[in-house]
Amino acid sequence: MKLTMIGGGGFRTPLVFAALLRDTQPGRIDHVALVDTDESRLRTMSRILADQAAGVPDAPRVTVHTDTREGLTGADFVFSAIRVGGMDGRAADERIGQSHGVIGQETVGYGGISYALRTLPVVMRLAELVRDVAPDAWVINFTNPAGIVTEAMSRVLGDRVIGICDSPIGLARRALGALGIRSMETTEIEYAGLNHLGWVTALRVDGVDRLPDLLAAPDRLGSFEEGKLFGPEWIQTIGALPNEYLHYYAFQRDVLQADQYAPQTRGRYLLVQQDRFWSRAADAEHPYAVWQDFRHERETTYMATNRDSAGMGDRDEDDLVSGGYEDVALALMRGIAYDQRARLILNVRSGGALEGVDADAVVEVPCIVDASGAHPVPGARVPAHGRGLVTAVKYVETQTIEAAISGSRSAALRALALHPLVDSVRVAGALLDDARSTFPDLSYLR
Ligand code: G6P
Ligand code: MN
Repeated sequence: MKLTMIGGGGFRTPLVFAALLRDTQPGRIDHVALVDTDESRLRTMSRILADQAAGVPDAPRVTVHTDTREGLTGADFVFSAIRVGGMDGRAADERIGQSHGVIGQETVGYGGISYALRTLPVVMRLAELVRDVAPDAWVINFTNPAGIVTEAMSRVLGDRVIGICDSPIGLARRALGALGIRSMETTEIEYAGLNHLGWVTALRVDGVDRLPDLLAAPDRLGSFEEGKLFGPEWIQTIGALPNEYLHYYAFQRDVLQADQYAPQTRGRYLLVQQDRFWSRAADAEHPYAVWQDFRHERETTYMATNRDSAGMGDRDEDDLVSGGYEDVALALMRGIAYDQRARLILNVRSGGALEGVDADAVVEVPCIVDASGAHPVPGARVPAHGRGLVTAVKYVETQTIEAAISGSRSAALRALALHPLVDSVRVAGALLDDARSTFPDLSYLR
């Protein structure tokens, strides 16, 4: 089986490769094709993966390609994890957002819309290429903002594109950990919303929902990442566990304020940190060890500004070991390839699974995966207080896709001005002008 990784020269490729190396079942992936526009990163990444595979019997063969069509030929699965505009673009969006007093984070508010407007034309072309070159392949999308990107690609690929995020499963795992439950074997998570905008609404263990126990215990609630970010009282008040990205909504003013005192934005930090990584890894004797060090540092500082604004300490060491990301991806592939039924939280077209959301709009909900794809489990419910937010942000996402497909400046303005985190139509217009003059690839908006 062949897996093609678009953006395979990206920093998280070794995470996926680690999951593949752990997989010893028959019929596993035996060929990984890395596709990237950056030749030198491809070279370094193949050295990292070779180092990582040293001593592992039957490790998958790795090939590298700068030609997407060539890399896609014969693919059974395609992972897409690209960053249009690079880390420079991410930092520029943060700066533009900051200069207008709004959130510039890459997946939330202005930052998410701008990033999507730059990314969608590229991923639409990719979807068309997959349709033409590897029509039977399944596409697993990691590219952010993952919900919008998956929805846009589904216009071409239908249900053959499935989006992944590690934050819902990460939240569930941390919450269960706070209850002293370490194994996820007999658990069933209820989760509902959009990507980076959802809630855990039940934590069933052996058929019994343990969320009420957690909500009744403020000390336990305050013992893990999201509990600290939002505070036990607020979580008790809403009666559900919010995704960490909802922190930008619930504490918008506080994050903006902390932003002013932060030494640098996340994108700015990563720009420097990642440059150091690529030059160190390029000629290191053990480039995989270098990658491990840089990954640890990157994870330790994740969401630092939000955490600072909430007065939190360091991140829990447990959160740094393994994310759900690569395990979800592997379980998803196996579920489809071998009809191994699995229940996973994924980004798929709702098919009516979420009240108030169109059937062909992408939502993040529990799904049953089998050989025929990922199917939303009926019954996912957004908590009452969050329904308006989901509807508003879904509208913004639809207008963003409309802008990218038709080139309509009005649709882009609607997306920006009607986002709940942009508080003035004037500011929305100014953001759009700034984005257009900063990013040449936005000249298609007229
Ligand atoms: C989480 C999110 C991803 C996002 C990542 C950013 O894992 O779920 O969607 O890409 O964080 O991490 P970074 O190190 O780039 O800030
Ligand atoms: Mn995510």
